[in-house]
Amino acid sequence: MIDGERLWRRISELAEIGHQDSGGVTRLSLTDEERTAKDMVAEYMQEAGLAVHEDAAGNLFGRREGRDPDASAVLVGSHVDSVYEGGNFDGPLGVLAGIEVVQTMEEAGIETEHPIEVVAFTDEEGARFSFGMIGSRALAGRLFPEELKHEDESGISIAGAMRDYGLDPGRIGEASRPEGSVAAYVELHIEQGRVLENEGLPVGVVTGIAAPVWRKFVFTGETGHAGTTPMELRRDALSAAAEVMVVIEAEASKTGTTVGTVGQLSLEPGGINIIPGRVECSLDLRDIDEGTRDLVEERILERAREACEKRTVGFETEVLQRMAPASCSEKVRRAAESACEMLGIRPYSLASGAAHDGMQLVGLCEMGMIFVRSKNGVSHSPDEWSSNEDCTAGANVLYHTVLALASESSA
Ligand code: GLV
Ligand code: MN
Ligand code: MN
Repeated sequence: MIDGERLWRRISELAEIGHQDSGGVTRLSLTDEERTAKDMVAEYMQEAGLAVHEDAAGNLFGRREGRDPDASAVLVGSHVDSVYEGGNFDGPLGVLAGIEVVQTMEEAGIETEHPIEVVAFTDEEGARFSFGMIGSRALAGRLFPEELKHEDESGISIAGAMRDYGLDPGRIGEASRPEGSVAAYVELHIEQGRVLENEGLPVGVVTGIAAPVWRKFVFTGETGHAGTTPMELRRDALSAAAEVMVVIEAEASKTGTTVGTVGQLSLEPGGINIIPGRVECSLDLRDIDEGTRDLVEERILERAREACEKRTVGFETEVLQRMAPASCSEKVRRAAESACEMLGIRPYSLASGAAHDGMQLVGLCEMGMIFVRSKNGVSHSPDEWSSNEDCTAGANVLYHTVLALASESSA
């Protein structure tokens, strides 16, 4: 059994980095906060007896050798970056539970056939550049040079931020792991929804991960005097955007499974007595079924174009990132279900509405996730909470899952 108190202490210590007055954390990727968090994680890795290194994407690894030095590695981990004013569990739980798992093995003198590597991926959230999973994409050999052009709100590109962080974007390809070198990736994460709470279960086994598409919308109208421009002569960019936001809500609601969110909105010039001439907003659209999501997206774009044409407001859109849904592998699911049974927890399967690094690793290795119950289903918020007992239960399920996968014959 893992040491739940040690895990909880580390979660609390990590929560101090990027701590906000709201009680949450802001640890954007490739910033001093993410660096400090990774340095703290590297210390925990050393305490756990792991060999620590970082790759060309800034992914942090702690490795424990297996009996077979040439065997493929079992990867376990998550991320330590956060969204703006995020919670203390989304990401850190998976990294710190991974360390706890190998430290427990080390203390119990348990050897495994395969090496085990704990990873803290760079930028899972995508909060800074509206483009996420930078580290896991790089590890899977799926990060392309043109994608490093995505910029944050101060105009710093991913490539620029990498340079400031001490990384060479020209060498990003070196982070890619060769085919056959990774046996499996397992991530422990908070559920971020209410399903486990409703079931009265501390832990669940993930079946698959819903796929987001992120878009940017730009509405171009005409600025004008708020007092002198009659309503029928206006080309108000914000009114057009507002109409499109209602369309997004309506179209996403029709399927019963799709979710659509506008989380970013900016307008110019921004005066109380000026008609907005330009509006930019984001769209985050997701479904566990890619076809359903894409149909909803098509319908939103069609209706957005119609609405803007009617208002003679210009409408442009670009895709920031488009992902495919990912199925968790049978092998990892079975190992996690057996671990639940062993620990007296009813095995229960559920899908993930949130995106995770494992999505990028499908094709490279077996991929699976284990969820821990979230209080009130709240996440990406300072109120995000999972109890010490539930985190401990999740880490114990992770322990037995990883032990089973890493003990398989490597021949
Ligand atoms: C990350 O948490 C996401 O689902 O966007
Ligand atoms: Mn996460
Ligand atoms: Mn998240």
